[in-house]
Amino acid sequence: MAEALRVGIAGLGTVGASVARVLRDKAAELTRQCGREVVVSAVSARDRKRDRGVDLGAAKWFDDPVAMAQTAEIDVFVELIGGDEGPSHASVKAALEAGRHVVTANKALLAKHGVALAETAEKKGVLLNYEAAVAGGIPVIKTMREAMAGNSVTRVFGILNGTCNYILTRMEAEGLSFDACLKDAQRLGYAEADPTFDIEGHDTAHKLSILTSLAFGTRIAANDIYMEGISNISQADIRAAGDLGYRIKLLGVAQRTESGIEQRVHPTMVPTASVIAQVHGVTNAVAIETDILGELLLSGPGAGGNATASAVVGDIADIAKSRPGFQHGPVFGLPAKELRPYKKAQMRSHAGGYFIRLTVHDRIGVFAAIAKRMADNDISLESIVQHAAGPDSALQKTVILVTHETTEAAVRKAVDGITKDDHLTDKPQVIRIERAE
Ligand SMILES: NC(=O)c1ccc[n+]([C@@H]2O[C@H](COP(=O)([O-])OP(=O)(O)OC[C@H]3O[C@@H](n4cnc5c(N)ncnc54)[C@H](OP(=O)(O)O)[C@@H]3O)[C@@H](O)[C@H]2O)c1
Repeated sequence: MAEALRVGIAGLGTVGASVARVLRDKAAELTRQCGREVVVSAVSARDRKRDRGVDLGAAKWFDDPVAMAQTAEIDVFVELIGGDEGPSHASVKAALEAGRHVVTANKALLAKHGVALAETAEKKGVLLNYEAAVAGGIPVIKTMREAMAGNSVTRVFGILNGTCNYILTRMEAEGLSFDACLKDAQRLGYAEADPTFDIEGHDTAHKLSILTSLAFGTRIAANDIYMEGISNISQADIRAAGDLGYRIKLLGVAQRTESGIEQRVHPTMVPTASVIAQVHGVTNAVAIETDILGELLLSGPGAGGNATASAVVGDIADIAKSRPGFQHGPVFGLPAKELRPYKKAQMRSHAGGYFIRLTVHDRIGVFAAIAKRMADNDISLESIVQHAAGPDSALQKTVILVTHETTEAAVRKAVDGITKDDHLTDKPQVIRIERAE
């Protein structure tokens, strides 16, 4: 039997401790599957004394993850610290430079430094695997990187943040406010004490930037993503969406258009009957559309110790099975130097249907003025409905418009015009409608 693969795990939190447990509990299966043993020979975290729920006594302890990355006592460096700078970046870079294979679950790191790290991995002839970085346990990286050769992707989109999907699911199912659902998510450990990163779309954007690179062979461009979070989604939006046959989801969408590649993260209305609309709670889903395959939807657990560890262990097993000359392909599907610069499509030229909810003074002429602003901007309406608005219904009305396909620029101009007309009593709400089967 080949020599054992020696693994060093940096970070022994939710994911790192789970990885150590799975490697211990599944040692016999992994040995059979890989044709060699996989052993944890080194570990690093901040607090040496903390009980990690697994005996790591046989592994050498390192206070400094960079020193562990450079030691000749490991073959694979597994980075599960988190963060796009500091110890995670320094240690992954050091490991690749020292010729160690790397496995990471860190989307923030890859969104920022992915291309440079891929270049180093290629130069050193080592693997950089990151299945757990996007959609946790769902094998989407493997699917896109290895199983779709020859396909040209036209669109990739998904529910990539379990916290947001949990909040939106509960708002719809129980009629609760955004704030109440967020508090529950925090109590249950689905949301961080500071939830900004999740609910304002940053986490989804990091994951989307990696999918975009794999889908379109472009250099990662996380800073170019148009981003809106879910904190301004109200019960009025959820109910109106339901009445119209839609459900609201926070989607990350990357799409090839005539003017370039659109990358956007925002609340989206998807048809209630579509498959992605059936993805509830903390579950994640990724839809990939290609010319040869058609549409593929992968769905499953996007976070949590065990699900994420499953993806990390899969990446480690791939390294254990790889032999010189039979290694897997390049980090982002193409050699790093062949990744093209990302050509950004302007959000103003985004084309699609729109939901617009307006709260207006109840007075003569308002309805006609709104319809005129739409017509002036060549926006054709699928429906326009007016009904009483809440406790002040004697004074104000809600107007809900659904447009046929139009552009972001036209909608923004029309809504600006309506706002200037001084008929509104509240901020207008605009939610894009996404085509989904
Ligand atoms: N949690 C999930 O469900 C999930 C899902 C997908 C991807 N991820 C990604 O996986 C990574 C880890 O997430 P996590 O939830 O496991 O984080 P976590 O529970 O906060 O664990 C972080 C670990 O890093 C260690 N650490 C921090 N600074 C360090 C340093 N300077 N040197 C050595 N160790 C250090 C901590 O040590 P101490 O324990 O001693 O403080 C801790 O063990 C992140 O990149 C995250 O985005 C997580």
